[in-house]
Amino acid sequence: MNREIILQKTSEHVKSLLAGEGSGHDWWHVYRVWQNARRIAQGENADSFVIELAALLHDIADWKFSGDDEAGPREARKWLESLGADETVIRHVCDIIRDVSFKGAGVKIPMKTKEGMIVQDADRLDAIGAIGIARTFAYGGSKGREMYNPAVKPEHHDSFESYKKNSGPTINHFYEKLLLLKSLMNTETARQLAGERHQFMEEFLTRFYSEWNGKG
Ligand code: NI
Repeated sequence: MNREIILQKTSEHVKSLLAGEGSGHDWWHVYRVWQNARRIAQGENADSFVIELAALLHDIADWKFSGDDEAGPREARKWLESLGADETVIRHVCDIIRDVSFKGAGVKIPMKTKEGMIVQDADRLDAIGAIGIARTFAYGGSKGREMYNPAVKPEHHDSFESYKKNSGPTINHFYEKLLLLKSLMNTETARQLAGERHQFMEEFLTRFYSEWNGKG
């Protein structure tokens, strides 16, 4: 099977698995990460086939829903083997999927390859800016969280466990994760895009507090 067909079949497969999922990790998240990754890859000397496959498969069994770190790589391997993909490609894609999830502000997972760095940047870009704001409130709503509560201060999560257990208001998530992402980008292209998205979030927060307090 050639690369074009493997990519096409993989996108159809992931679309059918994640269609209609409402908490921000749906097919359209994957689609946006895929497009971000292609854009970033244009300026880099890296294997675009591995990048696109990893972007398409990176949330195939997200830990937030499955509770198992190995579920994603396992599902991805099963799928790619069924298409007859090369073992080196499968191993690289699975390594990226394993490392790409953000595990809280205090826990840094360095990506081992350029391809991994690009997929991580692409995923992080989708967590900030206008899309990031929309996803954050959609996810908070799905967990029954308040949008904002002035009495509850943001927390810094030093471990994956405390990050997973976090149940604070959605606005706190901006300080616990979203506003930290700009400085974590691996590539120059992603850094530029992140800068614009970051500024938009700052403006959003300024307006949010202003409207909250009846100042318009
Ligand atoms: Ni993702």
